[in-house]
Amino acid sequence: MQIVLVGYMGSGKSAVGRVLAEATGLDFTDLDNYIESREALSIPQIFEQRGELYFRKREHELLKEFLEQHQTGILALGGGTPCYAGNMDLLLGQTPHVFYLQLGVGQLVKRLEPEQQGRPLIAHLDKEELPEFIGKHLFERNPFYDKAHHVIRIQEQSAEEVVQQILTILS
Ligand code: S3P
Repeated sequence: MQIVLVGYMGSGKSAVGRVLAEATGLDFTDLDNYIESREALSIPQIFEQRGELYFRKREHELLKEFLEQHQTGILALGGGTPCYAGNMDLLLGQTPHVFYLQLGVGQLVKRLEPEQQGRPLIAHLDKEELPEFIGKHLFERNPFYDKAHHVIRIQEQSAEEVVQQILTILS
């Protein structure tokens, strides 16, 4: 079984993916880490040295490559992955288990404020600019995220509680 987690930066895809992997015994892969190891550069270095367009092209190629080579496991995507190069349709054709971890703008701002550095798309913003940036970005991205088979609305739940919700849906 291939389970795919999508959602905005800071939505907890990697944390939930790890707990879900422990609970199911499936392997966990974070697409950002897969890209980093294949490029031998960190995500911020790829953005800085090669630019976002190069990143989006590699993200698409490596997603395709990964899906061809792995029919089972848990895959957490980057926040932008579903929104480029037909990636969401590719995923929806591959597995019936695409989960969108959905948080509101307020929750995302709270989670991302202390973690802006290391995230190339928001590192340059002043704190006061974050709510408007994230709100607009989510408005653009939601049509892609909303295509997921399942939406998990997250407020204060822990990763463990989110995993319980996912397991209930899968059972
Ligand atoms: C991005 C999200 C990041 C990473 C890159 C671009 C985005 O992944 O892929 O910085 O476009 O939202 P996370 O969602 O894992 O932070």
